[in-house]
Amino acid sequence: MSVPVTPYSLKDAPALIERLLPVQKLSTESYKEQMAVQGKTLTALGSYWKGRKPLILNKACILGCLLPATHDLARDLEIFEKLMAMDDESFAVRWKRRPKPQEILATLSIASVTEYFTVEPEGILPPSAPIDWSKPDYDAVKVAWRTDITELERRGLEAQMLPRIPYRERVDQAQRPEEVLDTVHDHIWVAVNGHLGTNAHSFPELVEQLGIMRYGHRPRVADTFCGSGQIPFEAARLGCDVYASDLNPVACMLTWGAFNIVGGSAVTRESLAKDQLHLVNRVEAEIDQLEIETDGKGWRAKVFLYCVEARCPQTGWMVPLLPSRVISKGYRAIAELVPDAKQKRYDVIVRSGATERELAAARLGTVRSDGRGQDPYLTHTVDGTEYRTKISTLRGDYRKADGTNGNRLRLWEKSDFKPRSDDIFLERLYCVQWMRPKKKGKGDDYEFRAVTQADLKRESIVEEFVAEHLADWQAKGWVPDMRIEPGDKTDEPIRTRGWTHWHHLFNSRQLLVAGLVNRISDARLKLGMAQVLNGSSRLTRWSLGDGDGRSGGVKGAFDNQALNTLLNYGTRGSRFSVDLVKQRLKSFPLHPNLSLKIGSHAADDLIEMSDIFITDPPYGDAVKYEEILEFFIAWLRKNPPLEFAEWVWDSRRSLAIKGEDEDFRREMVSAYKRMTECMPGNGIQVIMFTHQSGSIWADMANIVWASGLHVTAAWYVVTETESALREGSYVKGTVLLVLRKRYGIQKTTRDDLAWEIQEEVEAQVQALAGLNQDAKSLYRDGNVFEDADIQMAGYAAALRVLTRYAVIDGRDMTAEAIRPRVKGETTFVDGLIMFAVDTANQCLVPQGIPQAHWDKLSGAERFYLKLLDMEARGAKTLDNYQNFAKAFKVRDFKPLLASQKANDARLKSAMEFGRSEMSEGSELHQSVMRAVLYAVMELVNNVDGNEVLAHLTLNIANYYGDMTQRELAVELADYFAKRLAGLRPDEASAARVLRELVKNQRIG
Ligand SMILES: C[S@@+](CC[C@H](N)C(=O)[O-])C[C@H]1O[C@@H](n2cnc3c(N)ncnc32)[C@H](O)[C@@H]1O
Repeated sequence: MSVPVTPYSLKDAPALIERLLPVQKLSTESYKEQMAVQGKTLTALGSYWKGRKPLILNKACILGCLLPATHDLARDLEIFEKLMAMDDESFAVRWKRRPKPQEILATLSIASVTEYFTVEPEGILPPSAPIDWSKPDYDAVKVAWRTDITELERRGLEAQMLPRIPYRERVDQAQRPEEVLDTVHDHIWVAVNGHLGTNAHSFPELVEQLGIMRYGHRPRVADTFCGSGQIPFEAARLGCDVYASDLNPVACMLTWGAFNIVGGSAVTRESLAKDQLHLVNRVEAEIDQLEIETDGKGWRAKVFLYCVEARCPQTGWMVPLLPSRVISKGYRAIAELVPDAKQKRYDVIVRSGATERELAAARLGTVRSDGRGQDPYLTHTVDGTEYRTKISTLRGDYRKADGTNGNRLRLWEKSDFKPRSDDIFLERLYCVQWMRPKKKGKGDDYEFRAVTQADLKRESIVEEFVAEHLADWQAKGWVPDMRIEPGDKTDEPIRTRGWTHWHHLFNSRQLLVAGLVNRISDARLKLGMAQVLNGSSRLTRWSLGDGDGRSGGVKGAFDNQALNTLLNYGTRGSRFSVDLVKQRLKSFPLHPNLSLKIGSHAADDLIEMSDIFITDPPYGDAVKYEEILEFFIAWLRKNPPLEFAEWVWDSRRSLAIKGEDEDFRREMVSAYKRMTECMPGNGIQVIMFTHQSGSIWADMANIVWASGLHVTAAWYVVTETESALREGSYVKGTVLLVLRKRYGIQKTTRDDLAWEIQEEVEAQVQALAGLNQDAKSLYRDGNVFEDADIQMAGYAAALRVLTRYAVIDGRDMTAEAIRPRVKGETTFVDGLIMFAVDTANQCLVPQGIPQAHWDKLSGAERFYLKLLDMEARGAKTLDNYQNFAKAFKVRDFKPLLASQKANDARLKSAMEFGRSEMSEGSELHQSVMRAVLYAVMELVNNVDGNEVLAHLTLNIANYYGDMTQRELAVELADYFAKRLAGLRPDEASAARVLRELVKNQRIG
């Protein structure tokens, strides 16, 4: 019989996340989720949303807040990993292919085969495994699982079959836990309940019971910066009550979609699918009536390609502005410009099957630039003479009296939806991609064709139709009439095109389709409508397609995080555009009894109480949600469906928290203060932020202090690498700050703090290093914590001490924290943080270097030695280098690196350094370490030992005057010999020789 849990029995228990978090495994899992791109659970609801926090990370945070840390941390970790589906049995389920009985019997030692399997015919196989199946006698033997073997027993055996490979490789080959969510946790409950004293058999049950044990009720999780709803959705999926809010109504809509669509019941999903189909059919029928997308010969338009056209001021010719004349790589389709001297314009002919040379020539269009950052220019040739005109000249850019820039583009009016004939920039349809079902077999044939008179006729039908109805549609709110307010990102459409209203970002075909969808969609379908808008606007880039058979495609407007206007773009045929309403959504029905509430307000206007706050606030200027999402708000604001009607359909830019300066800190304090007030005494918070700059530590400490919070732990999780959004290596990590309410007015002095910080940091470092030892059996292939994690925990320990106090040296820290900063000034708080961080770093001396010598080393030397230590243990992610460079205050760590690849970074070897980094400008100038590396390089190059020593004594300052310099050289040579043994044996051996040479050197 199950015993009910005792309310408040865990009321004051420390949370697991305050003691441990398996950050290495969590990083691997988060990375896997982020790389799933469209396969991510909520992405199809709004692929335009940037910066989703991985669900698996959110899950870890929520569970980490609810679970208690007990006296047995190693067991806590084991249970936590089971809950996260990181244990072996879970991997047996996550594995993409389950092993066959025969494979199991070939691999595992099993005393009695028939205990698990049926064997036919009997008596041929040996009674125990492993079995060598190569014996011909066994060919006819069939083995199968016994029907009385339970799934869990089978899982136990299969788990033993998993390859002994590093966790990252394991995750690479496995499915994500949420892809097998219905069964992956079946085996864990006995162990979980045994450890926690619960009696749960599902997450909602466990969460409810833990909530009762901590708070007396099912826990309520809040996220006041909910964005796309990743945190609230995960909280609800786990079975928490949720309060989600955001300033931006598009965020509210996405969160609503997460709860009600992805989290909706099977019945709601069925009815949504029906309604989507109905909507698509209705829109298609209306469009078909206009006959604007078929050619009467069985072909239907798939994509219309438009470009800007402008008059060359030097020749008077009208020229299509095409950055490339290639239309499709796969179809080798190109546009050819045929001069029409009489009319001073170009006909555009479209040809497929171009030769390699023709394709290469077509890559150069009529708009070029002489390199990055150079002004693009229009170029064309008349009678053998090439004419070039900068685009800025075409626009008529000029400097205004007040120093700002202006241009001569006409500003479009509310009634405009296409350029007027006397505008500088006109718009021209230059190609249509057609398709029709293949005459034989499945699939379609595609063709790119030039524009015909019939096409232009169809264009004018659409334009006339829109012209006739636009004002009415705008009045009814089916099409936007909202102005584009100037801003960082919103300036671009105004400046480069003269577009002043949001509907100017859509051409007539796009307005027609989106207007119809808007008119007939309810709340659920509005999410699909936003996908239609993202998929078809004047900002949707035409991509040329790579490889044979790929025709090219229309990309989303929010492929990047700006509102970049394009010189040419693709418009999906209406059928393909409205089809985006039918998003391919995942389904995770949420527990029906949960209370899920959404608010549309600034975080500091919160009035709802919650037990746990998990937030991912805006930081820096990463994504300007408050500007770019007006693209969608404009379509919804006048006529929101009932479910969204309470929300403020305005982005309220002035209330958005942004930047990193004083306003940012003040607004963050106001938000977090309010959250702290709306949290019970034993409530807990996790703040996530992307680790961008060193100053963030001081910022966050200030914010936490002034909000009445107290740091209890911090973790660093790598969430993305080598992102497609930016070229090259790019590592993105998320820092998690765990916080509690600060009580009372504790006072201390700086002197006392020094000791306290040191003790706390040392204790923290030891605790985590100890856990590495204790969990060896769980972590065959690595550590629970790598050095960088321990370093982070060290910082957290320092912050934990600091933020415990309200008054330091007589100063009120809450006031101090929000005191305006003078640029370049190091404030009292900065000083304390630097001190705390230094103390944490001091505790991380690599083994083999005595503390006294470590203290003497420069930041660059420490950096090199520390990272070499980590490389020797297999670490190679770039973010380690970035983080330690910051920690050791290395000005520029790049000259010390041979590779800066995100997942394959590496220090330079002695040989790679050669003679570099010796001169005055280098951070290693005159350092003992550089001199030692130089000597190693010489020895590898077979330079005579005496000569090497002679150079060493010259390269090390005061070699004969200060004996510790020589001692240090011996220690460093020894250090290199050990660390390089596996990495670069030849240098390791040279380092050993050097160590002996210096040791035995006769002096004086
Ligand atoms: C980093 S995003 C959150 C992303 C989210 N965690 C996700 O996974 O999608 C920050 C959010 O804060 C919102 N925001 C900005 N200023 C705000 C304010 N003053 N009050 C409430 N929300 C605000 C933005 O609209 C944005 O949705």
